[in-house]
Amino acid sequence: MQTSPALARIAPSQTTAMTDRATQLREQGVDVISLSVGEPDFATPPHVIAAAKAALDAGETRYTAVGGTSRLKHAAALHFARDLGIEVPVNQITVSAGGKQAIFHALLATISEGDDVIVPAPWWVSYPEIVRFAGGTVVPLPTTASHGYLFTGPQLEALIGPNTRWLLLNSPGNPTGAWYPPEMLRSIGDVLRRHPQVMVLSDDIYAPLIYTGKSHVTLATECPDLADRILTISGVSKSHAMTGFRIGLAAGPEWLIKAMEKLQSHSSGNPCSISQAAAVAALEGPQEFLAEWRDRFRARRDQVVSGINVIPGLSAPTPDGAFYCMVDAQALMPRFGDDAALALHLLDHGVAVVPASAFGGSAGFRISFAADDEKLAEAVRRIAKAVA
Ligand SMILES: Cc1ncc(COP(=O)(O)O)c(C=O)c1O
Repeated sequence: MQTSPALARIAPSQTTAMTDRATQLREQGVDVISLSVGEPDFATPPHVIAAAKAALDAGETRYTAVGGTSRLKHAAALHFARDLGIEVPVNQITVSAGGKQAIFHALLATISEGDDVIVPAPWWVSYPEIVRFAGGTVVPLPTTASHGYLFTGPQLEALIGPNTRWLLLNSPGNPTGAWYPPEMLRSIGDVLRRHPQVMVLSDDIYAPLIYTGKSHVTLATECPDLADRILTISGVSKSHAMTGFRIGLAAGPEWLIKAMEKLQSHSSGNPCSISQAAAVAALEGPQEFLAEWRDRFRARRDQVVSGINVIPGLSAPTPDGAFYCMVDAQALMPRFGDDAALALHLLDHGVAVVPASAFGGSAGFRISFAADDEKLAEAVRRIAKAVA
């Protein structure tokens, strides 16, 4: 028996593989600090937990509308307007089992064989795999640490062709923490206006986590005339420490939202009813704690970046957002061969990280600094010892 050609085109998630490996080692009694996983270590806020319990007690245990309850769609509309500046009616919003599923459905619903999808690299691990699964061709748009892992309008335009269907834009970004300021978004918009065949998936799932002191900006508000070509992804997983609830939000043109819901009606159906009630509480409830969490993440970022930058052979630029930092280990490659070997070596020394090559990068690794201060300090000590 054989799996499908579509499945053969994709590889399993390397971030999940590294996290699973670290968990296995821990279960065997090995002391491993996992900096491979992309989720906040903070507890889910109590009012969110209370809403989930109340939904269970109220018997909200049935199917809901495929694209989410009307209550959650209204809460999502509030979120898109309040937090991202995107005024969008509820018929242009859908809810899925995590941001990942929203992206999966959007790309699967729109990509045909032979379509090109421009993906800035280093990229979030799932982007290229979803594109390939859908039958598209990944067109990497390389970015470098020296330019803040940001691409420019001209670099984008050089890659656009008649078959370009999508640009995947992630700001703040995983794995680099890169964040696009308004003027860069506007210059990307100038390019897109010349190429009406290109849609943009703007993945803003890390929007509350920006450390520059500036407010988040997004393509749909910087270039409102392009709004009918932009799908904005958001959610509660990263912002509200709700990764296990599996709720993702998407706002975009109605035809695309309908297409995603059509697909969802035959894949998972509605997102979990209890999680939807919890997400309403997250989006409509207090938001003040987010600023405190962001400040704690900023302090951890500074701790990790300064710790890494004094280790001979390693360097890390300071990321503007999200909770990841990309470490450049080029100088260590003659010794280790490649970054996968280096990541395994670090695992042997009790720290799980993900090699840059898993993200379409090279000669480095990603650290998630969503771990407590003591663990981070110990992890940096172990990394220093491992490469000494
Ligand atoms: C850039 C990016 N987009 C989307 C997601 C999906 O988030 P979730 O499906 O957990 O809501 C992630 C999670 O790691 C991410 O890093």
